[in-house]
Amino acid sequence: MKIITDPAEMQTIAEKLRLNRQLIGVVMTMGALHEGHLSLVKLARQTAGTIILTIFVNPTQFGPEEDLHRYPRPFERDVSLAKAAEVDYLFAPESPSVYPDHYQTSVTCGTLAERFEGALRPGHFNGVATVVTKFLNITKPHIAVFGEKDAQQLAIIKRLVKDLDIDVSIVEAPIIREENGLAVSSRNIYLSGEQRSTAEILYQGILHAGKCIDAARRDLSAIAAEIDGMVRSAPGFIPDYVSFVDEETFEPAEHAEKEKEYRLLLAVRAGSVRLLDNAKFRCR
Ligand code: PAJ
Repeated sequence: MKIITDPAEMQTIAEKLRLNRQLIGVVMTMGALHEGHLSLVKLARQTAGTIILTIFVNPTQFGPEEDLHRYPRPFERDVSLAKAAEVDYLFAPESPSVYPDHYQTSVTCGTLAERFEGALRPGHFNGVATVVTKFLNITKPHIAVFGEKDAQQLAIIKRLVKDLDIDVSIVEAPIIREENGLAVSSRNIYLSGEQRSTAEILYQGILHAGKCIDAARRDLSAIAAEIDGMVRSAPGFIPDYVSFVDEETFEPAEHAEKEKEYRLLLAVRAGSVRLLDNAKFRCR
């Protein structure tokens, strides 16, 4: 595995790979690699011959009050995990080479980025869209794998690639969970042992939604309110939002229509840690 820090060098390598007819797959991360990230690499491997993994804690997607400086950066451990996952190139630039002096251009998202995470984290998705666009230009992949774990981010990236005619296929990877159902996340290390076991309430909520929808219930806002109540009953857990959205538009959905797909979005605060989860349902 080669470690590249210079964007121009990465771009030259990617161009050579393309000229040699290599199928490039990219997995973008902020590091602190875990099973979720590694599952994306595995999925990329199914299609691509050359895998580029990017690690960059992107400052432009963090708000002033957020955890940019305390975000975990276990670089040596990440290098070993990437090697073990048979990554070919690890692209890990420093911030000044991504955003040099006089940098001033960014990608602005539309309405998809206004609700939910976008409403609570102003500017977050513009930062994500900008760095994803830059890294697609730097790594020139044929496919790019993103996790359903960040469902709104995924929807925005799919929109971005369509709207800006970026020549890449976006592949969606399912959520990897811990044994109790908690979605694996780099931020889970901040949870106390007790919070970590209580956090299974989010998955319990998803299971409850599945049961309701299997029972042909259509009252999505009532189901979401029940799940909100379940989360609130867990000591110290406060939902930021629990809502169903139309899978196509990401607009909040109150009543389900037959045969349509909806996604339940959950964002919950457990002390200073925010937990995100979601699941897709098809109404019968
Ligand atoms: P990060 O949070 O490191 O996540 C990198 C990728 O891993 C994302 O596509 C995310 O959805 C996926 N992922 C995280 N946890 C997962 C899990 N439990 N199961 C499956 N996939 C999971 O998302 C970002 O970084 C950044 O915003 C980034 C896209 C890299 C831009 O900076």
